[in-house]
Amino acid sequence: MTTVIRLLGADEVALAAADLIQSSIEAGGRVLGLATGASPQATYTELAHRVVAGRLSLAECSAYLLDEYVGLGSGHPQNYGEVIRRDLVDHVDLPDTRVLGPDGDAGDLSAECRRYDKAVTEAHIDMQILGIGSNGHIGFNEPGSPLTSTTRVVSLTEQTRRDNARHFDVSTQVPRLVVTQGLATICRARRIVLVALGEHKAAAVAHAALGPVSSECPASVLQRHPDATILADSAAASRLP
Ligand code: GLP
Repeated sequence: MTTVIRLLGADEVALAAADLIQSSIEAGGRVLGLATGASPQATYTELAHRVVAGRLSLAECSAYLLDEYVGLGSGHPQNYGEVIRRDLVDHVDLPDTRVLGPDGDAGDLSAECRRYDKAVTEAHIDMQILGIGSNGHIGFNEPGSPLTSTTRVVSLTEQTRRDNARHFDVSTQVPRLVVTQGLATICRARRIVLVALGEHKAAAVAHAALGPVSSECPASVLQRHPDATILADSAAASRLP
């Protein structure tokens, strides 16, 4: 079952998400699953404030990324390893060497997907942070992704490439292929918190929380997770009753 918590705005969502993450860490949950994207940015900023203020430490934590573009190169500013470093790792006491992600530049991507899926599964993620795509994707599991999927190479939909084009100089630079943890991989996390902000996420949030569990809306798989929470601002929650 998914718990949906409706909050006023992005600041309240960030505080509530940071509270859930902090309580998980303080209960001994040292393995984090990290998402990139705009949605968790304010949450990461709030975590950084708490670390700087001495109210929280990530020094004993390790972290795993959800996904990565294929072929961007590790120095590219939109490589998700770089993005998470800028958005979180540089501002907290989480050791850089303990932040791991799939290698989108691996020569043998199938072998890399198998390796990363095994690594994530064996690490036992305690708290997975998620955003949601406007088409209901989580990680880069696009509509049509099997609910039983594991880490694999996925072709992005044109909608996701358009949504993500704002991060690139020109839209044609958005890669067509990505490596993503699968839906089954993500659901192995003990706890999940999904952050949704803005009206453009409202339809996806409504389907994820209340619609049929189906690969048409990959985030709907969270309804089957024992401890998944959706934190939505009032715009993202506007299509919920
Ligand atoms: C990308 C990421 C997702 C993220 C989604 C939404 O596609 N792979 O993990 O949830 O974007 O991004 P944003 O939060 O910027 O809307």
